[in-house]
Amino acid sequence: LTFRFDPCTTPVAASERAARLVDPGFGRVFTDHMALIRYSDEQGWHDAQITARVPLTVDPAASVLHYAQEIFEGMKAYRLADGGTALFRPEANARRFQDSARRMAMPELPEELFLESVERLVEVERDWIPEQDGGALYLRPFMFASEVFLGVKPSSEYLYMVIASSVGAYFKGGAPAVSIWVSQGYTRAAPGGTGAAKCGGNYAASLLAQKEAIANGCDQVVFLDAVERRWVEELGGMNVFFVFDDGSLVTPPLTGTILPGITRDSILTIARAQGLTVREEPYAIDQWRADAASGRLVEAFACGTAAVVTPIGSVAEPAGRFTIGSGGPGQLTTRLREQLVSIQRGQAPDPHGWMRRL
Ligand code: PLP
Ligand code: COI
Repeated sequence: LTFRFDPCTTPVAASERAARLVDPGFGRVFTDHMALIRYSDEQGWHDAQITARVPLTVDPAASVLHYAQEIFEGMKAYRLADGGTALFRPEANARRFQDSARRMAMPELPEELFLESVERLVEVERDWIPEQDGGALYLRPFMFASEVFLGVKPSSEYLYMVIASSVGAYFKGGAPAVSIWVSQGYTRAAPGGTGAAKCGGNYAASLLAQKEAIANGCDQVVFLDAVERRWVEELGGMNVFFVFDDGSLVTPPLTGTILPGITRDSILTIARAQGLTVREEPYAIDQWRADAASGRLVEAFACGTAAVVTPIGSVAEPAGRFTIGSGGPGQLTTRLREQLVSIQRGQAPDPHGWMRRL
């Protein structure tokens, strides 16, 4: 399958682009092009293109609008210290996209096509990578059911696309530490559900809990498991880590109800490579509260492509609020963040072969 290239005939002027890249925020500034591949049961994957980013025409009966057969990915392209451009572990995103597709009864996009679609788009949009610290080109591959049919069944047609967005920090003002609300009534995913898939529905279901977090003066929501309402799972769009006074780390295990984060996996690898003790095991909210009070827990952080590594300063529940460590960025959190970021920026060696240069 070869990609047709249809250059955008009205690209944003260089001066206007520079203005938009000064303080891009997250997910508001979009580039000139997009990648697109169609799928049908009859033709398989076909009609691959890099083309101008334009609004889509979607039939009102397209099944995604009714039954939410939709999945997505998120990864970043970075400008390296030597001026080159590279993606961080895109093969891992390609495989997770296939895992998500399988769970949602969608066709699996071959890894080579996923990688080619992303790389082709980044090649065309290199100039949209912000220069400043923390800037990157956020790539959003996604796929949705486009068959015009109201019966409840897997669609026979899909559209796979990649759009790109110039981004800075995910949290406003680069937030030194975020505050977390422990969701009470709402859970994110149950055993056997779609928690490990990156499907749009998971995010729709998290919004009311996130709204509750904001109403309670917090930045983000953390979910507990759906069965015992006791075990800490993850945030709406980030995995979570705990750091103890003996220098060890804990993160919830991948039991099917949380997203297997690529940042999570990278932190585990970086930490283990330097001899830190890391356990993937359940951690209860009662324990979190008690360990924070006793000082056994010294740091906690959230991690993900968008959020990178973000310290958690405090945790709020109806019963009250507790602070973690000093309430600001902890030492190990800061070090792990710097180690990860320097690999991503090409400022440190890449011992695990994570960077894919264009
Ligand atoms: N958990 C959820 C629910 C997410 O949406 C994300 C973001 O993609 C993550 C965790 C972190 O995953 P990754 O590190 O692959 O970006
Ligand atoms: C990402 O980090 O890529 C995500 O999908 C999380 C979302 C909150 C932007």
